[in-house]
Amino acid sequence: MERKELINGGKVKSVYNTTDEDKVIIEFRDDMTAGDGERKEVMNKKGCLNAVISSKIFQYLESKGIKTQFIELLENNVMLAQKLDMIPIEVIVRNIATGSLVRKYPIEDGTKLDPPIVQMDYKDDEFHDPMLNYSIIKALGIATQDEIDILVELAGKVNDALREFFDQAGIILVDFKIEFGRDEEGNIILGDEISPDSCRLWDKETLEMMDKELFRKGKDDEVMDAYLEVYNRVLSDDDKSKYGL
Ligand SMILES: Nc1ncnc2c1ncn2[C@@H]1O[C@H](COP(=O)(O)OP(=O)(O)OP(=O)(O)O)[C@@H](O)[C@H]1O
Ligand SMILES: [Mg+2]
Repeated sequence: MERKELINGGKVKSVYNTTDEDKVIIEFRDDMTAGDGERKEVMNKKGCLNAVISSKIFQYLESKGIKTQFIELLENNVMLAQKLDMIPIEVIVRNIATGSLVRKYPIEDGTKLDPPIVQMDYKDDEFHDPMLNYSIIKALGIATQDEIDILVELAGKVNDALREFFDQAGIILVDFKIEFGRDEEGNIILGDEISPDSCRLWDKETLEMMDKELFRKGKDDEVMDAYLEVYNRVLSDDDKSKYGL
């Protein structure tokens, strides 16, 4: 599969067209950003760790009947994926209250959320990703009611599957953000990435953070050890000897 022109140079990934018009190459770079891209650092191996972890998770979700963009990992940090018409919504699922939720609403940090909260933010750094509701989504022409219903249903399914996936690795899935897109036929497919960049993960025993929150809090020297620990726990020994990270 040959790489053609860059179609989206995002903050941490670069998306390229390929010789097959239905497929894209997603290169996970070593960049790490916070605050809508205001702070940026380069973290060695980060691209590989996120691409490998995302691939593992996409394959796991496929095994649970959830359609994802994943086709194959071409290199440790390069994913071949289905090309999608991305819906500019960050679908956020929260199992435990923390972060912006406790800053904006009268709810205590660490409160268990049962049922989980499904929240949708408009993916646009210029507007600082404001929260959406159904009327706003329709007014902006971002998605139809049927599509919104599918997003909510899929978010719940992804959450159920991922909670189990991480639990088996001794990790609590606190919350996460996912993005969806439409394929040629208009089917809603899970795209982008699922990694310690896009999830809040806490160690089940110590409740220590194992995700990008460490970077947001300025603990830059601890971030990659945490990502590596997630990699070590969720990948099999066979996988690890293949990737050698
Ligand atoms: N399968 C896919 N097909 C096409 N585009 C995709 C696919 N998966 C993800 N994308 C898009 O590629 C980009 C990924 O890059 P990255 O995550 O670095 O960007 P970002 O920081 O989220 O910000 P922005 O996209 O606003 O620049 C996102 O815009 C994402 O929506
Ligand atoms: Mg992104």
